[in-house]
Amino acid sequence: MFEHFNTPEELFSYKLGSALTMERDSLEMLETLETTTPRVRLKELFNTHAAETRHQIENLERCFALLGEEINDFPSPTTKGLAKEGKASIAKTEPSIVDAVLLAGGLETERYEMAVYETLMINAKARGADEVLVLLKQNYDQEVAASEKLLKAAEMISSEGIAREIPPR
Ligand SMILES: [Fe+2]
Repeated sequence: MFEHFNTPEELFSYKLGSALTMERDSLEMLETLETTTPRVRLKELFNTHAAETRHQIENLERCFALLGEEINDFPSPTTKGLAKEGKASIAKTEPSIVDAVLLAGGLETERYEMAVYETLMINAKARGADEVLVLLKQNYDQEVAASEKLLKAAEMISSEGIAREIPPR
């Protein structure tokens, strides 16, 4: 753990490790979203992005290797907070309307991830880490696409009337 950042490289390593933790947190969150939603289409959406997220984790691990550094997983309090808020909201929400909560949590997480990658890409470019930049861009593009799908899904269920009939158990 860095006590104090003295160089741009140290800052970059820290943010890269924090992004790795972010993706691991997101993967856990996506699995929760997939098991919680009553809509098959949303299950597929969350499942697809969970598979992408597993690949993103591998990409981030490869970034460390390309930089000749050991893999670090530095703290990511923002994604921990988003997951905590999401789980608390799910617990307080009727299953018939829970998708609105799931999509909001998913969208907020994706938008945060986009911002993290935007900064990482700027810094990778600045230090001439071209191969790292390519991997970060792959992750970023997937976050943008996932974000768009979540936004469209939120619009779809809101136009359908949010509530979903839940069959009795
Ligand atoms: Fe994501």
